[in-house]
Amino acid sequence: MTDIKSKNITWHESNITKEDRERLNGHKAVVLWFTGLSGSGKSTLAHAVEQALYDKGCRTIVLDGDNIRHGLNKNLGFSPEDREENIRRIGEVARLFTQAGVIALTAFISPYRADRDNARELLNDGEFVEVYLKCAIDVCESRDVKGLYKKARAGEIKEFTGISAPYEEPLNPELVIDTAAETLEESTRKVLAYLQSREIIV
Ligand code: ADX
Repeated sequence: MTDIKSKNITWHESNITKEDRERLNGHKAVVLWFTGLSGSGKSTLAHAVEQALYDKGCRTIVLDGDNIRHGLNKNLGFSPEDREENIRRIGEVARLFTQAGVIALTAFISPYRADRDNARELLNDGEFVEVYLKCAIDVCESRDVKGLYKKARAGEIKEFTGISAPYEEPLNPELVIDTAAETLEESTRKVLAYLQSREIIV
């Protein structure tokens, strides 16, 4: 874990609690942490779930790897250290959104178990929902939506997850979605049903 570098800093509590905000919103705040290989369908499912939640009147945000790397995390690459920092920041940002009463949906490969577990540790029990998009690498590679697998096979991209960099499967994810076998609608329904079963949404 990253140590606090600053000295002489004092925590200031907010007058309005997360529970106050959740009451106002009519749903609980939670992080939906989508993890899986590039091309496994994280962004697609995160956006479909967000749409379904929005239609129900929920307050949401999608934090997406490719987008965040254009701004907040533009100074990070794909070394293990940079991926760790990428996920550390996103864990903190997602936590801030839960404090604002929002449902945060994160779509990052997040290949290292320890980094995902650290993000989980920032939240209360039940507030971190790990959704593993289980999809064989050859299926992801055959989709190759961004043409990156082809480049990685040609050696044009180094440290590419699943080819020349590791992906550590979740051991106990709250949800496993098989995007090769299920339709987007089925997967979306599954996530929504989970949130209802945990009384996060009605
Ligand atoms: S993570 O490993 O740090 O969680 P993140 O989700 O932010 O990765 O970014 C992954 C996206 O960056 C991929 O979907 C792909 O579009 C792009 N990308 C570029 N280079 C790589 C690489 N070496 N490994 C994986 N993804 C890469």
